[in-house]
Amino acid sequence: NKGNYEHYMQKEIHEQPASLTTTMRGRLIRGGSCKAKTVLLGGLKDHLKTIRRSRRIVFVGCGTSYNAALAARPIVEELSGIPVTMEIASDLLDRQGLIYREDTAVFVSQSGETADTFQALEYAKENGALCVGITNTVGSAIARKTDCGVHINAGCEIGVASTKAYTSQIVVMAMLALAVGDDTISSQQRREAIIDGLLDLPNKVREVLKLDKDMKDLAKLLMNEQSLLVFGRGYNYATALECALKVKEVALMHSEGILAGEMKHGPLALVDENLPILVIATHDACFSKQQSVIQQLHARKGHLIVMCSRGEAAAVGLGGSCRVIEVPQVEDCLQPVINIIPLQLLAYHLTILRGFNVDQPRNLAKSVTTQ
Ligand code: M6R
Repeated sequence: NKGNYEHYMQKEIHEQPASLTTTMRGRLIRGGSCKAKTVLLGGLKDHLKTIRRSRRIVFVGCGTSYNAALAARPIVEELSGIPVTMEIASDLLDRQGLIYREDTAVFVSQSGETADTFQALEYAKENGALCVGITNTVGSAIARKTDCGVHINAGCEIGVASTKAYTSQIVVMAMLALAVGDDTISSQQRREAIIDGLLDLPNKVREVLKLDKDMKDLAKLLMNEQSLLVFGRGYNYATALECALKVKEVALMHSEGILAGEMKHGPLALVDENLPILVIATHDACFSKQQSVIQQLHARKGHLIVMCSRGEAAAVGLGGSCRVIEVPQVEDCLQPVINIIPLQLLAYHLTILRGFNVDQPRNLAKSVTTQ
């Protein structure tokens, strides 16, 4: 049932304040007068000691689920103190990459039925790793086969393009980071700030959804373009990849997510006054580096659109010569949840304006159960 919406993708984008609330329900413990705020993930609590002892955490997924894990990687590394490596499931299988008994392998999948992710899970189990599932489907193949896990509880997602599941996956992995790091006194303040940020996140998502009309206007400007480049780094490298995936998948427009630190190693050659480039430059530890990227793209007459934190348009906007998307600022590790939402809206509006099927894109299936 699409309710008041015309399409499932549109409904699922706008549902995110509620889906995120459901994802967090019962899992964030506010703490008493002298008790610290903490996180309770029932499906993981008996395995936290083993996870803390592991030599490495390996995130495995495909498509949007991989991107969600990539967005969460920095906070998992920071709070757990354990190195995190990333694996696209098919590539892990193609390489027969090394997985050890001392590894914790985390399988991220909305459907819980993706063939590559499932086979990678079987492979990791054979190699003795502790296998954790992060899925949206109770009773799915991945949920059943993993040793333990967390349901993302985002509610049924019907649009082939994953939207609300993406933001809920990031939130679940941020909570996983909090739970694994829960025994470290030195990061307690940081953890409490993130928990406060999580509690307020649905409000911030409501605010950013108000950009719907602006994103429609931006889509009108971009609808006849051949291509869109998206530059991100740090927490928002994943946002760049995920924006590009959405634009390709539903709007059938070429788009590429680029790690901004790689700009001078090739992509800069593409820059001219025609090719639209979206730069994600919200305020975090990478901000000044992104400001310099913007300057360099501008110096080459790039056709820029910049996403920045609210109130910082002047610091990134090149004296009004480029279009700016201002978003509310949240805790750095949660910013990818906020930043992707206008870009989901952009992909949605581009698709409608270009006249394509937004819920059932050409050639794609919701869950990829064959290899
Ligand atoms: O169900 P999964 O999360 O395992 O699916 C993985 C990908 O097939 C999926 O995320 C795909 O990339 C989406 N359609 C993207 O919107």
